[in-house]
Amino acid sequence: MPFVEEAFDGVPVLVTGGYGFIGSNLVRRLVRLGAKVTVVDALVPNTGANRFNLADLEEHIAVHVVNMIDEDAMRELVRGRTLVFNLAGHVSHVYSMCDPYADLMMNCHAQLGLLEACRKHAPGAKIVFTATRQQYGRPEYLPVDERHPLRPIDINGIHKVAAEAYYLLYGRLYGIHVTSLRLTNTYGPGQLMGNGRHAFVPWLIRLAIDDQQLQIFGDGQQMRDFTYVDDVVEALLAAAYRPESDGEVFNLGGERPYSIREFVDILLGVVGGGSYTCVPFPEDRGRIDIGSYYADFSKIKSVLDWQPAVPLAEGLRRTVEYYRRYRNHYW
Ligand SMILES: NC(=O)c1ccc[n+]([C@@H]2O[C@H](COP(=O)([O-])OP(=O)(O)OC[C@H]3O[C@@H](n4cnc5c(N)ncnc54)[C@H](O)[C@@H]3O)[C@@H](O)[C@H]2O)c1
Repeated sequence: MPFVEEAFDGVPVLVTGGYGFIGSNLVRRLVRLGAKVTVVDALVPNTGANRFNLADLEEHIAVHVVNMIDEDAMRELVRGRTLVFNLAGHVSHVYSMCDPYADLMMNCHAQLGLLEACRKHAPGAKIVFTATRQQYGRPEYLPVDERHPLRPIDINGIHKVAAEAYYLLYGRLYGIHVTSLRLTNTYGPGQLMGNGRHAFVPWLIRLAIDDQQLQIFGDGQQMRDFTYVDDVVEALLAAAYRPESDGEVFNLGGERPYSIREFVDILLGVVGGGSYTCVPFPEDRGRIDIGSYYADFSKIKSVLDWQPAVPLAEGLRRTVEYYRRYRNHYW
């Protein structure tokens, strides 16, 4: 059992990036577990920030529209907290190349804002940080384990390497309890579906639902792993609950790797039809494409008893059903 559900009952918890995709799914689960949830989110444009994600929960949580860079505001928000889930960041590799300073602000500067506030006003707190597979760069071997060299090939990956290093350093030096989860492609309800420059999975899902032809960049043989958002939420809770996770870095993964073509075939099966074509990578994507990637997640499986539980076809079925119902809030 990765964690004991009762352990979160009545616990004051801070979730940064709570209006975003993964943050809002975590908030929903924490509210069900009885936690006292405070959300910090700056509603940053071009991210998954979406007020609809928490619209039905607002009477059960406290929400602060604050940028983590604002250390004064963060001081009051972290004071007395024992548990912080940090989902605030920017995920787009393509945008990070267009506006490296914005990525630096969100993925590095703002992370120091949270860490400094915790160092001064919440010593002893536990922080769960969300890192990314992109930190590894182009895999030298597969599956990629946590010992694989970190050689990111885009700005976002570089900033996430730096941010993770800040967290681990503050953990070592200042008694903050830190765990970093390196996420892979995460999908599910509540994600930014707006355009293909943010992440390719939600974009393909949107095109499939709209019955438009999907474009796969390259030959579609690239391998990837996919994690349904509920599984990521369970990993976040396990990392928070288990002291064995302190100071550790863990890969998440999917139930098995799929080629992009296989992924698209399953997606089209779920939506009930559609078509795709393979096209060459646009120059801006090709330069930062990492080729095939899938994770070895045996470390988190053995240390925290976590493994993905939702198979891809089932996760896509839930996802498509959600967006068909709430499409006007995401398109
Ligand atoms: N979604 C994925 O597939 C994926 C993969 C790897 C890693 N991750 C990591 O998981 C985390 C969450 O990803 P997501 O998909 O939920 O992103 P998202 O874009 O849906 O949500 C991010 C949220 O963070 C908020 N935010 C950003 N900077 C902030 C700041 N300085 N202060 C306060 N709020 C701020 C945004 O307003 C937004 O609501 C990110 O750190 C991301 O790097 C996600």
